[in-house]
Amino acid sequence: MTIDPARFTVSADVRDIVQGRRLRRPRQADWSRRLVRENSLSVDDLIWPMFVVDGEGRRDPVPSMPGVDRLSIDNIVREVERAARLGIPAVALFPYTDDRLRDETGSEALNGNNLVCRSCRAIKQAVPEIGLITDVALDPYTSHGHDGLMSGEDIVNDASVAQLCGQALVQAEAGADVIAPSDMMDGRVGAIRASLDNAGFEQVQIMAYAAKFASAFYGPFRDAIGTSAALKGDKRTYQMDPGNSNEALREVELDLAEGADSVMVKPGMPYLDIIRRVKDHFSVPTFAYQVSGEYAMLMAAVQNGWLDGDRVMMESLMAFKRAGADGVLTYFAPRIAERLQGGQS
Ligand code: PBG
Repeated sequence: MTIDPARFTVSADVRDIVQGRRLRRPRQADWSRRLVRENSLSVDDLIWPMFVVDGEGRRDPVPSMPGVDRLSIDNIVREVERAARLGIPAVALFPYTDDRLRDETGSEALNGNNLVCRSCRAIKQAVPEIGLITDVALDPYTSHGHDGLMSGEDIVNDASVAQLCGQALVQAEAGADVIAPSDMMDGRVGAIRASLDNAGFEQVQIMAYAAKFASAFYGPFRDAIGTSAALKGDKRTYQMDPGNSNEALREVELDLAEGADSVMVKPGMPYLDIIRRVKDHFSVPTFAYQVSGEYAMLMAAVQNGWLDGDRVMMESLMAFKRAGADGVLTYFAPRIAERLQGGQS
């Protein structure tokens, strides 16, 4: 249906008001929209989080994360090769630990031959040029599913920090380029920095999960690494309260003072305001994590035919850029990279 504009009488008043206010003018053509676009998304903005599982030839789908698999080391190496071909700068590894290896203290985290360390060595050998990020937190390794050590109902801070330093060291020895503490214990960034430096790993970076909130959006991730059933209680005594914003600046300030090279806000889409504040306040490399629940939420609607997958994926990533993020950890990374490689924005 089209109308004939001539059939509508537009008064001189209306024309006077509209003149000089025609913001639609630059929106008329694609070339013009591209020219005036303030933010853009590039493959350089992407970090691909991946799940690794023991065994060979394995590619186990994570039911709550359609399109995401747990991969055995042989397959993860193949996917990291694909990431490198696509130009993705870095990948982040998360292990699914065999139940028999989980214990009260997460001792497997300090085993220099654990799944993550073996993955690092295999990846570094096959794809030395890609950035390799490993997660420091005890939850994949503890029988209670917490990121630190438990004493009664408490997650004890300082003893946990000592354990996390040991975990960071075995990861650095295995070839990790970036240590990413996601545990939210106080003082862990400084302690890990000192441990790394003392062991000669001055060049290993720290990407601090600085403002990490106690969020319900981590559910599918806990399925993926097998901690959902095990987790006793919740993580509210160490992860941030979703009602807080000023406190995020204090967390970031401390992590930077302790030696973090970059900081992260997590989750992503519900916390875009925090990303903007952190970026404006500190002007340091700031990353966002579009977490498992955000991915699951979009994919569930896409699978129902309620949302256009490619469009919501690109729009959600653009929102992170607009909020000030320098990069985003996202399970969409390979799909976005493929789309960008095809010349579509
Ligand atoms: C745990 C950790 C979590 C995520 C990354 N590291 C979950 C949690 O804190 O329980 C979540 C990532 C995601 O949901 O995609 N140290």
